[in-house]
Order: sequence, then C-alpha cells, then structure tokens
Amino acid sequence: MEISGASAIVTGGAGGLGEQTVRRLAASGAKVVIADVAKEKAEALVKELGDAVEFVQTDVTSESSVLHALERAASLGPLRVSVAVHGGFGAGGRTLKSNGTPHSLEDFRNVLDPYLVGTFNVLRLASAEMAKNEPLADGERGVIINTASIAGYEGTIGQIAYTAAKAGVIGMTLVAARDLSVVGIRVVTIAPGTFITPAYGPDPEQVEAYWSPAIPFPKRMGQPAEYAKLVQSIVDNSYLNGEVIRIDGALRFGPKSPN
Ligand SMILES: NC(=O)c1ccc[n+]([C@@H]2O[C@H](COP(=O)([O-])OP(=O)(O)OC[C@H]3O[C@@H](n4cnc5c(N)ncnc54)[C@H](O)[C@@H]3O)[C@@H](O)[C@H]2O)c1
Repeated sequence: MEISGASAIVTGGAGGLGEQTVRRLAASGAKVVIADVAKEKAEALVKELGDAVEFVQTDVTSESSVLHALERAASLGPLRVSVAVHGGFGAGGRTLKSNGTPHSLEDFRNVLDPYLVGTFNVLRLASAEMAKNEPLADGERGVIINTASIAGYEGTIGQIAYTAAKAGVIGMTLVAARDLSVVGIRVVTIAPGTFITPAYGPDPEQVEAYWSPAIPFPKRMGQPAEYAKLVQSIVDNSYLNGEVIRIDGALRFGPKSPN
C-alpha cells in the first residue's frame, strides 16, 4: 500500500521499537503521529524529524485520549496505518509464589490493561477512523499492526500475565482481520523475540551478552530498525493479512529463558 501523503499513528512511538517505526513511516512519506505517554523523548524526535511527525500525548488505555490522537492523525491525511507498539508494566510474576501467596489479581489486570485492552482500544478506534477513507484501487482502506511477543506462545516462568496479554493480541489478529475485511482493513501482528530497547534497562551490552548465546541465528538480539523494516513490509504487501509473524532469529523461550 502506498502511504505517501497519508497519515499513520504509532502508539509507543517514543519507545525503542516505536521510534524506529516512526522514522521508517515518515521516510515513506507518511505524516506520523507519535502517540505516547512519554513527552520528553517524543518531543526530541519531533524536533529532529520536523513536519513529518507530530506528538500527541496519549494513553492507550483511555478512549478519549486515543480518539484525540486519531483525530490529529486524520487531520494530517487519511489514516492508512496504525501500529500499536506501546509498552506496559512488567510481566506480573509467578502464578503462586514460593511462600504460597497467589498472584495478585490487581497485578494481573494491570499488566493486561495496556498490553491487551490498550491494543484492542487502538485497534477498534483506528478501524473506525480508517473505515472513513476512500478505498484504494484494490479496495484497501488501511492496515493495523499489533505487537505481541514470542512470550505469547511460550511464556517463561513468572510471565503469566504478560503471556496472557500477548496471547490475547495473537488471538485477536485473525478475528479482527475477518471482522474488518468488509471495510478493506488488514490486521497483522508482529511477535518479536528479543530486541535491544530501553525496556531491557540501561546496559545494552550486558543484555546482549545474556541473550545472544540462546539465539540460533543471527546470534544477537534484534535491532529496532529490523522490527520497523517488518512494519514496512506489512504495509507494502497487501496480501499479508490475519497473520502473526514471529521475528526472533529462531529463538524459542525455555521455561527459564534464556535456557
Ligand atoms: N524489546 C523487545 O525485545 C520486545 C519483545 C517482544 C515484544 N515487545 C513488545 O513491543 C512493545 C514495545 O516494546 P519496546 O521494547 O519498544 O519498549 P519501550 O519501553 O522501549 O517503549 C515502550 C513505549 O510505550 C510507551 N507507553 C507505555 N505505556 C503507554 C500507554 N499506556 N500509552 C501510550 N504509550 C505508552 C512508553 O512511554 C514507551 O515510549 C511492547 O508491547 C513489548 O511488549 C518488545
């Protein structure tokens, strides 16, 4: 799909994977709204990229907040791309702690809220905005890209809430693609393995040394630009729909990853 002159929204656009996605979509000629809670980093990106991007402070868990960001995007051009790549809060913890205490229900909900409910919030509201577009020659109106994780398939010990959220995102993909087929909107989910981003903390070298031996090939963590490249491929290739694409160097998490 050609997106030059169109608009795009990237939730978590100030984050590690999000920033590279913003750069890539802007380089393709789209006007990009960075929809993120984090102000400072987003504003630095706007300063650097200029008119191609706009920051709208957004909380994905809020209907009014996401609607506002989508309205801004649509004012810049028809919304053709929505990428949900925002973060959340931790992984939750073990189902049952060694002292016999069960997983906190509140913590479980707090993990699901941004990762699953927030992703659905963006999906449903972005689809309503995209449905207003004139269809392109092949009937396509837009594409919605979600971000799961390989933990959505094989979560490790202590990740039950995060895995439930990401498995939910994986599960929504085909249904959303079917639901939105009548309006010509595609839905594709990316399931990343391990990518070097601020989410892994302040010492990328240490993180890389920890993970790399477990990754079959390439024997390194992913670069956020490689995630963004996949976003671009999904946008470009209109026959990709209703699918979850792993991008992980053939990494499979064990019970106590990286082992
Ligand atoms: N980095 C990886 O290896 C990896 C692997 C698998 C999946 N993922 C997924 O990719 C996504 C992005 O990960 P990342 O590594 O870029 O994280 P990151 O921490 O670098 O960036 C996340 C961004 O989301 C923003 N954010 C957090 N809560 C928000 C909210 N409620 N509304 C709007 N924005 C919000 C943060 O401010 C931040 O800018 C996450 O969903 C994560 O689970 C990442």
